[in-house]
Amino acid sequence: MILVSGGAGFIGANFVLDWLATCDEPVVNLDKLTYAGNLHNLESLQGDARHIFVQGDIGDSALVQRLLAEHRPRAIVNFAAESHVDRSIHGPEDFIQTNVVGTFRLLEAARHYWQALPAAEKEAFRFLHVSTDEVYGTLSAEAPAFTEAHCYEPNSPYSASKAASDHLVRAWHHTYGLPVLTTNCSNNYGPYHFPEKLIPLMIVNALAGKNLPVYGDGMQIRDWLYVKDHCSAIRRVLQAGQLGETYNVGGWNEKPNIDIVNTVCALLDELRPRSDGQSYRAQITYVQDRPGHDRRYAIDARKIERELGWKPAETFDSGIRKTVQWYLDHPEWVGQVQSGAYREWVQKQYQAAEATA
Ligand code: NAD
Ligand code: TYD
Repeated sequence: MILVSGGAGFIGANFVLDWLATCDEPVVNLDKLTYAGNLHNLESLQGDARHIFVQGDIGDSALVQRLLAEHRPRAIVNFAAESHVDRSIHGPEDFIQTNVVGTFRLLEAARHYWQALPAAEKEAFRFLHVSTDEVYGTLSAEAPAFTEAHCYEPNSPYSASKAASDHLVRAWHHTYGLPVLTTNCSNNYGPYHFPEKLIPLMIVNALAGKNLPVYGDGMQIRDWLYVKDHCSAIRRVLQAGQLGETYNVGGWNEKPNIDIVNTVCALLDELRPRSDGQSYRAQITYVQDRPGHDRRYAIDARKIERELGWKPAETFDSGIRKTVQWYLDHPEWVGQVQSGAYREWVQKQYQAAEATA
């Protein structure tokens, strides 16, 4: 049994689905179901006894303690977070509450649980914290990619809150000996990505005939990894990572934002051409830049490749094609997310689960 937090969000849901598809070990999935949590992502697991969903907050110490005592997981994988930079600029409070205070409370619950485990289980226990390359700050055009030794220089409320959580995880290892692992991954894309982030927003706006808003000059660089490759990296680190170590995860795919938007447009032109024969590029609109916008992220993934033998399975070309195709194949998912209808469904599902529990 493992406990996953935030497993109804984009990466967490992909992780839970892949985990249960590749091994038989059950998962307790603790998720608060914020706007970003969506049980539709996990619909294929309905009736699967290996998936135990619990709506709740990682900051609810009593709940987390109860779940740990009841299910006795051998590992915790912490995905739960507020994750969108633009939201963090407009309302940073939730980011501090979940990413900092929530991670602190989860660490404390994990520490008390771990300390009371019998020797063999104590030895095997792992706390894996899922973090981001954004904690390292921004790179100039010529600077080498971020290694694990790069100093922390977070620039947005989001990245500052994630950096704080990484420091807490590190301190709980050094001070209390909690067996922790941290992964710092580059930008993910793929199925179930909430359409407030660049790639899914461009796909759904293009199809809806809306503007494709590119911030500033569109020459900011992000390093992209297909979400399933991030999930395989986390599984590998959980299996073989050295305690207390951090691992950068990335696919060596640095791209300026405008190239990403043009690629999405080209794929849609091929797979779902506009009825007027024009390219979706006609919808690109340059808008005001994001305040404090980091210019470039790039991940040096040699440590995880060398020490743990991990490699991504997708190239950017194969991953982005799959992603665009997934959104074309799942208009009902997009519709529910955009209308907010999934919230009602979530509420009904959750109440039904409560009633039968
Ligand atoms: P997401 O916003 O799609 O999902 C976050 C999930 O956490 C949601 O299901 C939400 O309901 C849940 N959640 C939020 N607050 C909670 C709380 N207090 N208690 C329990 N659950 C809560 O985010 P994502 O893109 O899937 O990111 C998952 C993790 O990966 C985050 O920690 C993020 O920092 C990290 N990360 C994301 C990326 C990326 O490109 N998306 C890259 C590197 C690292
Ligand atoms: P985003 O997906 O929000 O991820 P992050 O900010 O965590 O990297 O944004 C990716 C890049 O795309 C970032 O440089 C901001 C830019 N961007 C746009 O140009 N337009 C948009 O509408 C969005 C959401 C992002």
